This record gives sequence, C-alpha cells and structure tokens, in this order.
Amino acid sequence: MKAVRLSKVGNIENLELTDVPVPQPDRGEVRVRLKASALNHRDLWIVQGLYAKIKLPVTLGSDGAGVVDEVGKDVDRDWLGKEVVINPSLHWGKDLKAQQSGFRILGMPDDGTQAEFTIIPAANIFPKPVHLSFEEAAALPLGGVTGFRALFTQGYLQKGESVLLTGIGGGVAALMLVMALAADARVFVTSGSDNKIKAAMEIGAQGGVNYRRDHWPRALEKMAGSSQIDLVVDSAGGDGFLHLIELVKPGGRIVNFGATAGNPIRLNLRRIFWKQIAIQGTTMGSPTDFYNMLQFFESHKIGPVIDSVAELADFRKVYNRMLEGTHFGKLVLKNS
Ligand SMILES: NC(=O)c1ccc[n+]([C@@H]2O[C@H](COP(=O)([O-])OP(=O)(O)OC[C@H]3O[C@@H](n4cnc5c(N)ncnc54)[C@H](OP(=O)(O)O)[C@@H]3O)[C@@H](O)[C@H]2O)c1
Repeated sequence: MKAVRLSKVGNIENLELTDVPVPQPDRGEVRVRLKASALNHRDLWIVQGLYAKIKLPVTLGSDGAGVVDEVGKDVDRDWLGKEVVINPSLHWGKDLKAQQSGFRILGMPDDGTQAEFTIIPAANIFPKPVHLSFEEAAALPLGGVTGFRALFTQGYLQKGESVLLTGIGGGVAALMLVMALAADARVFVTSGSDNKIKAAMEIGAQGGVNYRRDHWPRALEKMAGSSQIDLVVDSAGGDGFLHLIELVKPGGRIVNFGATAGNPIRLNLRRIFWKQIAIQGTTMGSPTDFYNMLQFFESHKIGPVIDSVAELADFRKVYNRMLEGTHFGKLVLKNS
C-alpha cells in the first residue's frame, strides 16, 4: 500500500510516498481502509524535528475516516464494512481529567493515517456521522476533540458568552469557530491575515483583529465593547499571550493547548491573581470528549471548515501550505 513515510527529520522534502506492506490487525484491533486523512500541525512539527520523542521511520497522520476491512481476534465482526471515523487519542486511561502514562497519539510512534490502510484499537473507531462526507469526517478527529475539550470540558463555554479564538486560520481554531457558534456564543477572532478574519465573519464571527498590527488588543477591546471576553482559547502562546491576560474580563478563563509562537517572556502574575483569571491547559481529549464531540457535530448538523482537499500523492504541496500558514481550516488528503 502507499503511505506518506518519514525516515529522517529536517524538512518536507524528506517525506516520501512509499510502498509498504498492508498492516494486519492484532487482537483487539481493526484495519481501516482509509478514504481520507488530514493534517495537523503536529505532523509538521515531527517533520521539522520539533516534537518530543520522535521515533522513525513512521507513517504520519492522526486524522482519518474510512471503512473497516479487517478485524483482529476478540473484535465484533459486525464492524466489517462499517464507515468509521478514528479517535487518535490512544490509551487515554480511566481518569477523564488528564491522559495517563501509556497515552500516545496515532501517527508517531504508531503508524498513522496518511496511507491507504491503518491499524487502530477497536475502541478507537466510531461510526462516521451520516451527514458528513469521508473528507469532512476525516477533518474532525484531532482538532475536533482538542477544540471540543478546550471550549466545553475545560473552558465551560456557555450560551451567550463571548469567546476569543486566536489564530483563526488554524485547523483547530476553525473547528472551534463552528462549535462555538453552534453553542450560541459570540465569537471574536485574531489572525495574521485580514482575509481570514473576513472569512471567519462570513461564517458567523462577530469580528476580529490582525495580531500583526500595532495596538490590536485595544482594537479588540473596543470591538467586544461591554460584552467583554469571558473565555479565550489560544494555541499560539508567545508574547501575544500577555495581551490575552489583559483582554479577558475579571474572573474570566483562558484555555491554552499550544505554543506555536513559543513561550511568553515575563508572565505578569500580579495581573492574573488580581483579575482572578483561571488559566487552564488542555491536550487532545478523553474517549468521552471524542464521543461528545461527534454527537455535537451530529446534533447541530454542522461540519468542519475545510481549506482544501488534495490527492494523497499531492501530500507535499499540502504540507507546504501548512508551512506557509496560508490555509484557513483543515487540510485534507483523499485516497482515490
Ligand atoms: N495540545 C494538543 O492536544 C494540541 C492539539 C492540536 C494542536 N495543538 C497545537 O496547536 C497549534 C495549532 O495547531 P493546528 O493543527 O490548528 O495548526 P495550524 O492549522 O497550522 O494553525 C496554526 C495557526 O496558528 C496561528 N498563529 C501563528 N502564529 C500566531 C500568533 N503569533 N498569534 C496567533 N496565532 C498565530 C495561525 O493563524 P492565522 O493564520 O489565522 O494567523 C495559523 O494558522 C499548534 O501549535 C499545535 O501543535 C495542540
């Protein structure tokens, strides 16, 4: 079968579409013939050697949807032929509060989804929402579960609240946009691109500011007006994070799951305690979060924001698009 393989970190040129043996499911596992997969920034961090504990060679990819075509021992054979979406949080453990030792993310060290087939524990497959195509379903897993947990499980977003989503062009941020809108929140965004702010507003965001401009926090404060920001969900970090502490209202919440722009220097602890702000970290999600995320998309009949869909063979172009940061929403690969 064809698979996008990485055997040496460095740059996108090191990725290759290679022929590898079709994998066989072990006890408790299934094999999924993938119809579509998607990219996450994690894939790029791994290619660049910027991820922890990299083990190579590996087939990249955490997101996928397809059809179960083989089951291992002790797996219900009724799964055969079923259309499924994959939960990439492997071995989360029993405590819903945080992942336990043994937790892994599909797509390194285990071979992932940017391939024709993948192997996954039967506990990690879920029926594909019927209102979504394979390409749409494949855009949900990693970003959907991370965004759902950030907004609701950790961020306690309520109807009518104002939420600020930073870097709205990102795959997870754009998924949070549709979820927060479906939850009847008022959504404000930041982006390094005016066009992406416009695109977010066309979907339903109230407004947004360009974080590359001077005085953007002031502009956002004015925009939010008296409603103020109840919740900020951020995955950029960097010094922009210091502005988020100023922007969120007293008693508000900031949830963070990434550090695309690095660590903030000089965190102002006095502002955090005086304003009684809750700062909450979050990563991926439990099986319950994944199930609830799928239910949320199904019950609201919503779908992900997809930047583009390309053939698996065109993977390098798609990785380059993520590297340039020109995308708005999820980058999807399909198997013809
Ligand atoms: N902990 C977890 O479980 C988890 C899960 C998923 C993702 N993550 C992390 O979250 C981040 C986003 O992941 P992704 O897959 O959505 O990546 P992505 O699709 O590549 O999106 C990254 C986005 O970051 C935004 N950005 C870059 N610099 C920024 C800055 N200085 N201020 C505000 N926004 C900035 C950009 O938005 P604009 O184009 O709009 O400017 C860009 O589109 C990555 O760091 C990733 O590793 C963590």
